Amino acid sequence: MHSGQSAINYLANEIGKDEPHASSHWQKYHSAFKFNGQAFEGLQGFGGNVSPPSGLRLWALKKLQHRFRVIGKQYPLFDSIDALAHQMTSQQNRSYDLDVLRQAITISFLHHKAADKLSPTAMGCVIGDGFASMTALLLASGSAGRVVLINLSKTLLVDLWYLKLWMGATVFESSVDLVTDETSLAQALAKPLKEGSKQVIALQASHHALLRSCPIDFAINIASMQEMDPPITAAYFHDLREVARKRGLLFYCCNREMKQLPDGTVTEFLKYPWHTHDHILTDELCPWHQQYYTIRPPFYHSYDGAHQHRLAIFQNNNLTSSHE
Ligand SMILES: C[S@@+](CC[C@H](N)C(=O)[O-])C[C@H]1O[C@@H](n2cnc3c(N)ncnc32)[C@H](O)[C@@H]1O
Repeated sequence: MHSGQSAINYLANEIGKDEPHASSHWQKYHSAFKFNGQAFEGLQGFGGNVSPPSGLRLWALKKLQHRFRVIGKQYPLFDSIDALAHQMTSQQNRSYDLDVLRQAITISFLHHKAADKLSPTAMGCVIGDGFASMTALLLASGSAGRVVLINLSKTLLVDLWYLKLWMGATVFESSVDLVTDETSLAQALAKPLKEGSKQVIALQASHHALLRSCPIDFAINIASMQEMDPPITAAYFHDLREVARKRGLLFYCCNREMKQLPDGTVTEFLKYPWHTHDHILTDELCPWHQQYYTIRPPFYHSYDGAHQHRLAIFQNNNLTSSHE
């Protein structure tokens, strides 16, 4: 197990290695990635990390974000999660951008739809975070006490870096554990959590099968499976179904209906390996993930394709057999 700074050091040594779980999209977007121990270069494709705006620019961003906040405000917890997101981004010295705002709305939505699954004692799983925004907000909002964070090594390194900025070095040392095998995972899972303390278990995508041994209550994947090769997405579904088999699991998935990757691979939301006995709570175009803004006219733009979101309960064994 590599905890705290030693997890960052471990990943920094991994970034030169080939990643079999990276699609052609991610090979392209990670091609300029560099880390010198102090700073990153070539961060592309997983959200912005620009400095916090001030003055007129801040005013303009607030105006542009207003229509997204109107959507968020239909969920009772949104204002408090929005405030936590403000706090998080200012601790990380970065702008509270639309990528973060989408995560804040999503958590508020999840509380509204499936409050019983999110709690300070729950274990969440974030597949493909960006700057660890979702992970940090789940922990900050008491939506989970432990989060399994899984990503490609380069992005995972950035996730951990930003988690450290948010948590502070001392908490980061005791709360973040990178695991690479069953033994270190068992060690991490056995770590006693003091009242009110949090844990992030970080996994590289190549070790995704370890997810099966994690007592995960809910999993989240946003704008991420759309850029994975379909067999990789299928492997994650398989892992989550293995977890669900023992305990049931809530899965939130928000991805492009269809996307073509640089090598011609096409990913399709409806072709993910959903089951007819998944209990679907929501299935529609995601209201807060159809458009983005720019500071210049025409301000609002549609993404290159629609984003579908589905909230599903993967049933445990007993329930699936009674449905069949
Ligand atoms: C476009 S970013 C989305 C980030 C964030 N979820 C959001 O909503 O803005 C896609 C994320 O998926 C991650 N990703 C790509 N391939 C992956 C894999 N095989 N396993 C886990 N994460 C992966 C990328 O590294 C990146 O963090």
